[in-house]
Amino acid sequence: MFSNRFMAALFAAAAISVPLSHARAEEADAETLVNALNAVFGKHDGVRAAHTHGICVKGNFVAAPEAAMLTKAPHFVSKTPVGVIGRFSMGGGNPDAPNAQKDNVRGIAMHFDLGQGNTTDLLLISAPVFAAKDPDQFLKLLTAVASKDKDKIAAYFKENPNSTRAAQWLNARPVPASYATVNYWGVHAFTFTNADGKKQVIKYKALPVGGEAGISDEEAKTKDADFYRPELKDRLAKGPAQFRLIAILGEPGDPVDDPTALWPEEKRKAVNLGTISITDFEDAKTCDDGIFDPTNVVDGIEGPENDTIFPMRSQAYAVSFSRRQAAQQ
Ligand code: HEM
Repeated sequence: MFSNRFMAALFAAAAISVPLSHARAEEADAETLVNALNAVFGKHDGVRAAHTHGICVKGNFVAAPEAAMLTKAPHFVSKTPVGVIGRFSMGGGNPDAPNAQKDNVRGIAMHFDLGQGNTTDLLLISAPVFAAKDPDQFLKLLTAVASKDKDKIAAYFKENPNSTRAAQWLNARPVPASYATVNYWGVHAFTFTNADGKKQVIKYKALPVGGEAGISDEEAKTKDADFYRPELKDRLAKGPAQFRLIAILGEPGDPVDDPTALWPEEKRKAVNLGTISITDFEDAKTCDDGIFDPTNVVDGIEGPENDTIFPMRSQAYAVSFSRRQAAQQ
């Protein structure tokens, strides 16, 4: 019932054969989570423990005038285009994760250039929810999957139905035809502050300017594992791949501490933040020489206070980074 591919899809993330005894639920720290990702996906030296298969790109962001109503963050009030280094990726820690896999998230991670060597980051995935509400639950999920024991896995999902939402979302939609033809979400709730000190809770969403496009399951079977790369090359030869970045405005009662909880976004107001234009490929090294860190925000943007996944991400990414750096030396 639960294939490996299905399991892989349950994480917006990543693979080493590490003894499972290192992955006990009561120790959901960054090292343990990265070990648990490795236990699920296998050990692949020198690469990310999650979102391993990806493409480094570059482009720019042009803020919409309305963005300043919500936030004083420099890239959202800038009157000139802001440089962007980005990375499209497939979720999970398989370096060869097939682009045609339906039940896997796509990701786009971005550094916005704020000048003088400063950046702020934004990471989005192609589902509005993550597979776990907190680090302990994520560790339990990874540990169950790594066991390859069907009964344990079934028991985990029975006890943790919120963990199935991300895969359900993906399975209910076609395989994206391109990294550039799918919606992406920030998943966490952020708080914006504008120049007058007014605060607003938001969630990020990026919508492809040319609209969403998918391929049938039949067509997906005919595709190369890496078909997004030539697709993107052809696309960028004709013009930029563009996304409209919006802020979905939270209302009282909307959950702000649980990345598995959906907001009723069709009932929520949204404000245009601007346009992301991906213009060209960038050397992989540019993306690999550091991390895209969701907690790297800037004045005018705050991460969620009580969402325990949020700060854990930063720590886990640092562990993954230091291991991939060490393996390259
Ligand atoms: C505790 C929960 C999570 C853990 C342990 C985790 C783990 C990881 C790790 C280890 C990496 C590779 C970092 C690196 O080597 O640079 C990664 C990348 C990534 N994660 Fe997560 N993740 C978590 C939650 C999330 C969530 C909620 C999202 C939703 C936006 C997300 C989106 C991404 C994306 C887009 C990347 C790719 C970044 C890149 O291209 O460099 N992750 N994750």
